[in-house]
Amino acid sequence: MSREFWDSRFAEKGYAYGTEPNDFLVSQKHLLKSGTKALAVADGEGRNGVWLAQQGLDVLSVDQSAVGLAKTRELAAQRGVSIRTEQTDLTTWKWPENEFDVVAAIFIHFPSAVRAQMHARMVAALKPGGVLILEAFTPKQLEYKTGGPQDLDRLYTADMLRNDFGMGERLLLEEAITGLSEGPYHHGQSAVVRLVLRKPSGG
Ligand SMILES: C[S@@+](CC[C@H](N)C(=O)[O-])C[C@H]1O[C@@H](n2cnc3c(N)ncnc32)[C@H](O)[C@@H]1O
Repeated sequence: MSREFWDSRFAEKGYAYGTEPNDFLVSQKHLLKSGTKALAVADGEGRNGVWLAQQGLDVLSVDQSAVGLAKTRELAAQRGVSIRTEQTDLTTWKWPENEFDVVAAIFIHFPSAVRAQMHARMVAALKPGGVLILEAFTPKQLEYKTGGPQDLDRLYTADMLRNDFGMGERLLLEEAITGLSEGPYHHGQSAVVRLVLRKPSGG
């Protein structure tokens, strides 16, 4: 979906996915250390990046939507934390390498033509020993109609992620049916895939 699509969604009143962090990200709180660096990929209106900043992490929030990033900065100010933001198209971004302790990729659905490449960039952006935390919708989500892309080409399965992320230590990889309550656009029973991956030390 285009930058214009996301700018227009984020120009609506309120926060499309709410102001509270994604539950799966929160469930991985034990992996986060205050004072370390996090990259919030395709962070939208910033609910996840701001929450990471509230945990004491130094956060770079990236998204293609300037409207979303403005709301991210607003949310950070409301919560009394600082956050760095960068507007970019991730498919052409010069991704940092070996820089982050955590990469959070929550409901970013790349088309199949670039998905594996984007996933490799996420791992490359991690320091050795850093962790990637990812949640996305699976094709089964097309039956639920409770949010996410309606395009099969952008939906992920555990097998796809197993292939894309062969290079790390998988701490968790699961498909699940879960109840989402994330603002007006993610609401109800949903089919998701979740991954926690540790980049090998020295890798
Ligand atoms: C469903 S929203 C999720 C936002 C946020 N991660 C969350 O969970 O609240 C998808 C986000 O991906 C961003 N996005 C999609 N493709 C992108 C790209 N190529 N480069 C940068 N951002 C992109 C959109 O702008 C949008 O903010």
